[in-house]
Amino acid sequence: MSEKANIGVVGLAVMGSNLARNLASREGNRVAVYNRSVERTELLVNEHPEANFIAAQTIDEFVASLAKPRTAIIMVQAGAGTDAVINQLAERFEPGDIIVDGGNALFTDTIRREKEVSAKGINFVGAGISGGEEGALKGPSIMPGGSAEAYKTLGPILASIAAVAEGEPCVTHVGTDGAGHFVKMIHNGIEYADMQLIAEAYDILRQAGNYTPAEVAEIFGEWNKGDLESFLIEITAEVLKQVDAKTGKPFVDVVLDQAGSKGTGVWTVQTSLNLGVPVSGIAEAVFARSLSSQATQRAAAGNLPSHATKWEVADKKAFVEAVRKALYASKLVAYAQGFDAIRAGAKEYNWEIDLGAVSKIWRGGCIIRAQFLNRIADAYAQNPSLESLILDPYFTNAVAEAVGAWREVVAKASLAGIPVPAFASSLSYYDGLRSPRLPAALVQGQRDFFGAHTYKRVDLPGVFHTLWSGDRSEIETTPSSH
Ligand code: 6PG
Repeated sequence: MSEKANIGVVGLAVMGSNLARNLASREGNRVAVYNRSVERTELLVNEHPEANFIAAQTIDEFVASLAKPRTAIIMVQAGAGTDAVINQLAERFEPGDIIVDGGNALFTDTIRREKEVSAKGINFVGAGISGGEEGALKGPSIMPGGSAEAYKTLGPILASIAAVAEGEPCVTHVGTDGAGHFVKMIHNGIEYADMQLIAEAYDILRQAGNYTPAEVAEIFGEWNKGDLESFLIEITAEVLKQVDAKTGKPFVDVVLDQAGSKGTGVWTVQTSLNLGVPVSGIAEAVFARSLSSQATQRAAAGNLPSHATKWEVADKKAFVEAVRKALYASKLVAYAQGFDAIRAGAKEYNWEIDLGAVSKIWRGGCIIRAQFLNRIADAYAQNPSLESLILDPYFTNAVAEAVGAWREVVAKASLAGIPVPAFASSLSYYDGLRSPRLPAALVQGQRDFFGAHTYKRVDLPGVFHTLWSGDRSEIETTPSSH
């Protein structure tokens, strides 16, 4: 083994340290580690004397300890800190070297950084890394962008530390420049939707079914043996089982009900709005967190009338099964919308993203890993240009089996005054998608009335405007630009 390191990690907070340890644990890797404050570097190296680390005290030492092509993964907080480290490395690296940003960067920042860094001949790879602290240590799902050339060096290193699903490492070259961070962003948007949907299912089971958190944990444990098997269902059961040591109450009852976020869900929605892709389930999940955090408004609105009626649950088994089906169908919508956003992003930014490959690398390591991803991988294997996941025969059948229960759950929750924004919007999306006629025709009429925005007809080619303030006759015209 050469004296120098074949890979380096800058930024040794928990994610960076764990990733460095993961890298060092794989045969053939020697890992240079550097952190702005030396204490962290020393802590890592002292706690893991067995690991094949080279501890660098300065950025110059770090760069000098890397074998060529120098390859360094930056694991610092997204934003200005990332730019600062990139600049430090870019000043010292040589053409052909590789800088990897493994943080949750906004993909447009990654596109900008790639342009700046590659102008110097240095490769820049924005890589989404999912799986939290444990994933970083034991095997994350990795979504690298950047050039194909950089991936030649980087790919085998990343494959050595990634999770393995069905015998395949959970890493693929997603596409050029910001493609990796774009896909990671959508992963997080789906993560938000999945979490919110599970939370809504819990709320219904608790409020309408009168189950205790521990009983809901049991139900989720059962669900985790079937179609819904996933990391998020599994950990939700763990959270629901937890009892607060201080009060003896269920943990979930002593936690303030105001959900935080670090921004990737918001980015998914903002980006999808710009792309014109309806990610309504994801958006509702983001909004639900926002609403939960409007403490003053919520306190002021606490006594507003509801006119809700009690949800009489006659057959508990059937009730639980209906909620399960509603969750499954809504979850499918969230994934379908997320994959639509990836396809639209790829078109907009000229990336060749293989949706089937993305679904495969999400089968292990990442937060949204689930049995379900195998079905999605099958769907894209059968038809790589599938219009929507919902149109895959397997999923069409699954929704056909679930849709009755889905409607019942949304309707009854609504009558009972239980908020189900993600369940309801997913069902409305499904109904909108399958509707042969939408009231969008009326919206077009309204737009033409007040703004001469023009419309198309179902029976004739061309663009039309009605002279609403005149004799109301129709004229053929050119499309309005306003
Ligand atoms: C992952 C996670 C990770 C992080 C989320 C949390 O894939 O490992 O998505 O990136 O836990 O960003 O996001 P919020 O704090 O916004 O919920």
